[in-house]
Amino acid sequence: MSNDTTTGAPVTAPVLDWATDYDIFDAGYVADPYGIWDELRAACPMAHTDRWGGSWLPTRYADVYAIAHDIETFPSGNGISVVPIVDPGPSAAPAPPPVLTAGVPPISADPPLHTWTRRLILPTMSPARVADYEVFTRELCRRLIDDVIARGEGDAAAEYAQQIPVRVIGHILGVPDDMSGTFTEWVRDVLEFAHDPERRRRGVVGIITYLQGAVAERQAEPKDDFITELLNSEHDGEPITEGVVMGMCALLLIAGIDTTWSSIGSTMWHLATHPVDRRRLVAEPELMPTAIEEFLRAYAPVTMARRLVEDKDYNGCPMKAGERVLMNFPAANRDPEVFPDADSVILDRQQNRHLAFGAGIHRCAGSNLARMELRVAVEEWLARIPEFAVVDAGKVTWAGGQVRGPRSIPIKVE
Ligand code: HEM
Repeated sequence: MSNDTTTGAPVTAPVLDWATDYDIFDAGYVADPYGIWDELRAACPMAHTDRWGGSWLPTRYADVYAIAHDIETFPSGNGISVVPIVDPGPSAAPAPPPVLTAGVPPISADPPLHTWTRRLILPTMSPARVADYEVFTRELCRRLIDDVIARGEGDAAAEYAQQIPVRVIGHILGVPDDMSGTFTEWVRDVLEFAHDPERRRRGVVGIITYLQGAVAERQAEPKDDFITELLNSEHDGEPITEGVVMGMCALLLIAGIDTTWSSIGSTMWHLATHPVDRRRLVAEPELMPTAIEEFLRAYAPVTMARRLVEDKDYNGCPMKAGERVLMNFPAANRDPEVFPDADSVILDRQQNRHLAFGAGIHRCAGSNLARMELRVAVEEWLARIPEFAVVDAGKVTWAGGQVRGPRSIPIKVE
């Protein structure tokens, strides 16, 4: 199968019937899924496809919410990738070292492993700790903006949004700044190219090999960072295993980069293309808290999967063991039953119980950090570049699949 060279999306056969043969990698869907969700929600709220190993696509808030809470029927320990992970065979790159023996907990785990690994992450992502990371984030944004201002133009996705989360999480984990570009590529390999066995393996091997070195370094010489903190942690009176430490660090990299970059990028795209909203936010900065929630709702980037262990009839849908259910948090957030005028971005929307960060026991453990990064990125940009516009709408590109967001937004400062 070939890939689109700019977005990485696989080039797939055209979809003739979205209810029975949907494809989340379809180029039209990646660029603009909203109309398709609206049609499905009205006509077939639980669509099915045989593509990619077979899966179901809920589009109603109530279904996504209920499935996220039913961890018995829809566990995470049986696979969370939206596509089957294919073994590339003997001609491919070397196999990943067998160190992720515990998966990438807590996201890939069910209780009890889920419960205690999640508990180990939460203090690092508490509001107080996140406030400490804000200083670093603000300075980083300012440096990136200096460069755009100096040139009078830039790429708000690739040169701004993409550059922020990787450095913030690198700062927390204790990863050097000059690894940022490499990490971003590895994370894209894992999430955006999960359908491409060679690229996925390249990303997994890269991340694991790097983390093995980083763990060995901390074992020899502890540092003031999260990897060291994890190595010093205990569960049931025993030090936690290296497999769990590696899995958790890999998860923070994977979960914290593409997701937040996509949210910042979509928000930048919205502000560049909706001058009325942009000017209102500049004039009324007190709207920032509700505006940030609204950007998260309207452009939720993450779709995770659950994989059925056994056949199950769910609301009349005959689900088969091994099939996936795509946790369509983005479509749930556009459900007009829950969000009046759901396809409009309303900066001062008051009722906004969106599912951008998921629901139930796996609800995002990094949401405080993600919100801070998004807010600071918008505040700093609008303070220095209140007027800007997309140069060529045809050059804006979006990536989709597990994480959806813009990958290029060429803009000029006005
Ligand atoms: C705007 C940015 C982000 C979005 C939209 C987002 C979204 C999500 C979603 C939807 C889930 C639930 C997955 C599921 O149900 O299977 C999740 C879980 C998770 N996220 Fe985020 N995330 C973001 C940023 C971050 C950041 C910055 C971090 C930390 C570095 C992070 C760490 C995690 C972790 C550790 C989990 C697993 C929690 C568990 O399984 O208990 N996320 N995220």
